[in-house]
Amino acid sequence: NLLEKVYQTNSLTKVEIIYLLENITPEDREILYSHALKTKQKYYGNKVFLRGLIEFSNICRQDCLYCGIRASNAKVERYRLTPGEILGCCDIGYDLGYRTFVLQSGEDLWYTAEILGALIQEIKKRYPEVAITLSIGERRVETYQSLFASGADRFLMRHETASKDLYEKLHPTMHFEDRQACLSTLKDIGYQVGAGFMVGLPGQTFADLAEDLRYLSEISPDMIGIGPFIPHSETPLGTEKGGTLEDTLVMVALARLLIPGSLIPATTALGTLNPQGRELALKAGANVLMPIITPTSVRKQYALYENKICGDDKPEDCRYCIERRIQAAGFEMDLGRGDSWQFSS
Ligand code: 5AD
Repeated sequence: NLLEKVYQTNSLTKVEIIYLLENITPEDREILYSHALKTKQKYYGNKVFLRGLIEFSNICRQDCLYCGIRASNAKVERYRLTPGEILGCCDIGYDLGYRTFVLQSGEDLWYTAEILGALIQEIKKRYPEVAITLSIGERRVETYQSLFASGADRFLMRHETASKDLYEKLHPTMHFEDRQACLSTLKDIGYQVGAGFMVGLPGQTFADLAEDLRYLSEISPDMIGIGPFIPHSETPLGTEKGGTLEDTLVMVALARLLIPGSLIPATTALGTLNPQGRELALKAGANVLMPIITPTSVRKQYALYENKICGDDKPEDCRYCIERRIQAAGFEMDLGRGDSWQFSS
């Protein structure tokens, strides 16, 4: 029985994963979620970690077919927060209790290693105990090194899909090998690294999803972001079907079971797909939430997909909404840095 095997051993072969995905029943899913929840509790207890998310620029040099802020989308109103504005977001976030800031943007080269490095140093000077996570895409090795030397602790860069053909179709301006090389470089430099993928991409098969999990098992990242693909009408994939809640939850649960010590966010995309999506992810093995601190004035412009939640909210709205949701779902909010299990041990 594969459900018991993965629960007991934290491993499955790729063939077994494919078999499981092809044959899973609604009852199996519930068993899988409960195994994943118990595994999460074994490593992290009932805690859910918070990260304050600052979406500081929607300017992007890449042209990923699925993404609403791709370079070719001329309908997006572009913005770039200044370093001073980003620091202001950190001040607000710090007062709300966050001790991890995620600085995320499109691939915007205005933010050079020098400018980002100075910003990171200033955040660390003001708030020495916070962890800084970067999510800025592909850069040169030297840039990754210098940002780490400036004090960045973690780096999120989803691998998006671990299948080369699918990757190359979706990323006309990027290369599969580069993506994975970046992830391995980041790990070698000493960052806590986050990888991850989308579920329900056009053309994605169970074998592709099994390959995503196999790849994650291989690289054993500190963080794993998994969300449903949600079509954006101003992209080439605007009329495609998106990922489903169930398929995404199954992948979250399997990621928890296969990489049990990882930090797994209940993603905003899941919360967009279903009002209870993030709570269901917490009950299927996720243990992180990323409330948004981006200024309300630009939030709607950071639309990787449409109908993204929290567009009219202020930072404090998200902070307290998230706390209530964590409690209502039966978990405990933890405002600490929340390092990964493998990093802390
Ligand atoms: N639907 C869901 N997720 C998306 N992302 C980008 N575009 C979409 C979309 N249309 C995800 C990518 C990226 C992360 C920041 O957002 O996986 O890595």
